Amino acid sequence: MMQLAVLTGDFLLFRALRTLASLKNTEVVSLLVTAIENLVTGETMQMAATIEQRCSMEYYMQKTYYKTASLISNSCKAIALLSGQTPGVAKLAFEYGKNLGLAYQFIDDILDFTGSSASLGKGSLSDIRRGIITAPILFAIEEFPQLHAVIEQGFDDPANVDTALEYLWKSRGIQRTRELATKHASLAAAAIDSLPESSSSSMDVRKSRQALVNLTQILTARNK
Ligand SMILES: *[C@@H]1O[C@H](CO)[C@@H](O)[C@H](O)[C@H]1NC(C)=O
Repeated sequence: MMQLAVLTGDFLLFRALRTLASLKNTEVVSLLVTAIENLVTGETMQMAATIEQRCSMEYYMQKTYYKTASLISNSCKAIALLSGQTPGVAKLAFEYGKNLGLAYQFIDDILDFTGSSASLGKGSLSDIRRGIITAPILFAIEEFPQLHAVIEQGFDDPANVDTALEYLWKSRGIQRTRELATKHASLAAAAIDSLPESSSSSMDVRKSRQALVNLTQILTARNK
């Protein structure tokens, strides 16, 4: 069954590559190959992290870019290039996707603690139970360095999860992660605002740009 799943994944991947090749645009192929490569790097970083790396904000940010934001940023840039936009516009599209992706993941990391997927009105805690340390906990460590020792012990023991959560609720971890998400959502919106004036059908262009800016707000306001 596992083998069939892996083969199905390979099949879908090569179908996607065939579609990609049919675009006959080597720069776009390169962007999407980078995205896939980053996705794998991000997963590997998460799996193979040392305790120091797991407690490092810098490592987390890099991993988050690779795992989540790279696919969106490179796809946004690919669309800009495919529609014949200038390198400047392609760069802004990339910035939009990158910051949108980061903001999305920060909110996701908050919802793992606060979301309503579990029955008790709490998050599913799926990350921390698997030993994956995300921004809320990383900010909490800055206020409560004792948390480092708890992380070092691991989360196989549910009592350690409870202890980590106690520190988290006492800290400003959730709030600071929300601020980080808002910052990146604003950067995404700023990239759209920096796009050059368009010569054609300005009404449609304005509407589309507003929809892209709205998306940054919808993402940060979501609660599931
Ligand atoms: C963007 O959001 C505003 C405020 O919610 C709404 O009035 C407007 O229709 C939205 N525009 C688009 C294009 O989605």
